[in-house]
Amino acid sequence: MKKILITGGAGFIGSHVVRRFVNTYPDYEIVNLDALTYAGNLANLGDIQDKDNYRFVKMDITDAPAISELFEQEDFDAVIHLAAESHVDRSIADPTAFVMTNVIGTVNLLNAARENWKGSYDKKRFYHVSTDEVYGALGEEGMFTETTSYDPHSPYSASKASSDHFVRAYHDTYGMDCVISNCSNNYGSHHFPEKLIPLAINNIKNNKPVPVYGKGENVRDWLWVEDHARAIDVIFHQSKTGDTYNIGGHNEWKNIDLIHLLCEIMDQKLGRAAGESAKLITYVTDRAGHDLRYAIDSSKLQKQLDWVPSLQFEEGLAKTVDWYLQNEEWLNNVTSGNYQSYYQKQYENK
Ligand code: NAD
Ligand code: DAU
Repeated sequence: MKKILITGGAGFIGSHVVRRFVNTYPDYEIVNLDALTYAGNLANLGDIQDKDNYRFVKMDITDAPAISELFEQEDFDAVIHLAAESHVDRSIADPTAFVMTNVIGTVNLLNAARENWKGSYDKKRFYHVSTDEVYGALGEEGMFTETTSYDPHSPYSASKASSDHFVRAYHDTYGMDCVISNCSNNYGSHHFPEKLIPLAINNIKNNKPVPVYGKGENVRDWLWVEDHARAIDVIFHQSKTGDTYNIGGHNEWKNIDLIHLLCEIMDQKLGRAAGESAKLITYVTDRAGHDLRYAIDSSKLQKQLDWVPSLQFEEGLAKTVDWYLQNEEWLNNVTSGNYQSYYQKQYENK
């Protein structure tokens, strides 16, 4: 594999994947394609932007002619596709943007690959990065496996499920080498503060209310983002064509327990009295269609490709808090401007 197109590389997970590939594989040419939406930030890649094996292309995956022309010009060996609208709450407010990027954008990439890779599908690979949310919601028991039926509930998860189906259809119909992974909730550095953990860190830091949806009883399975990037690396290089892997941390937390742990860590880091940050916890109106519980069975990945999560959650969360406290400028930049109007709209009537 020589020239790899990574989409969405200026976002949270994409920036960790780009960094890993640029640093681990100096022989690879990594092309990062990103439209730089509100969630895309080239400052996420400041440490590798001048490397010889890295290039950035500003492009929107909904622009089919531009995508097609790029594939004609560049002889990509593989695509690792992460570009997406990724926030469930935004998908409830504006589903169409999710259909455009997550469904149409994915199909545009598949079409460009299908056209330009004809005759050499066995030497090319299309890796689609997806989510555990396509499987729907669990009750108190059980875990999602790779054979769990799709049952998406939010416009976001419906759009990701649709994109997964298209990727499989291009494998089954045209014989393209496609691979999919479905991962649980990620956390770590460069996470946009519309998502629970970085939003709570930012609010605790600024002594603002920490909004907890409903009763805080929903459960998520949290994975250190660098472990996700490592899993993508392993699956990309080692999986069979047409295969699917679940990726998860075996690390389930009720939202309210996670927020209490975060408050304790923040009290210590900010030199506050024990219990001080927890006073900011505010229960607000629940998310519409809120999935109760996600839990990923990643035993296939662990057994077949020898991948295991590297970090305990308490340690990872403390490292994450440190990163946000040490990167005030990054946080201030991404929370100025449009973020304020998003925040007001999202939380004003809760
Ligand atoms: P993110 O929102 O932080 O980043 C998305 C990136 O995609 C941004 O850089 C944005 O500019 C870019 N983008 C959006 N629309 C685009 C378009 N039309 N054309 C080109 N670029 C566009 O998202 P993330 O949390 O890093 O998620 C990355 C991928 O991983 C997504 O496909 C998501 O569904 C999946 N995923 C995320 C998680 C998670 O916990 N965050 C878990 C499992 C899977
Ligand atoms: O499971 C993987 C998915 O995880 C990814 O596919 C998505 O891209 C990613 O955004 C994430 O989705 P969630 O909806 O689980 O993440 P979020 O951080 O938005 O919310 C986590 C939990 O916290 C969820 O139960 C809703 C709750 N929540 C969220 C916010 C933003 C709150 O209680 N308060 C909040 O303010």
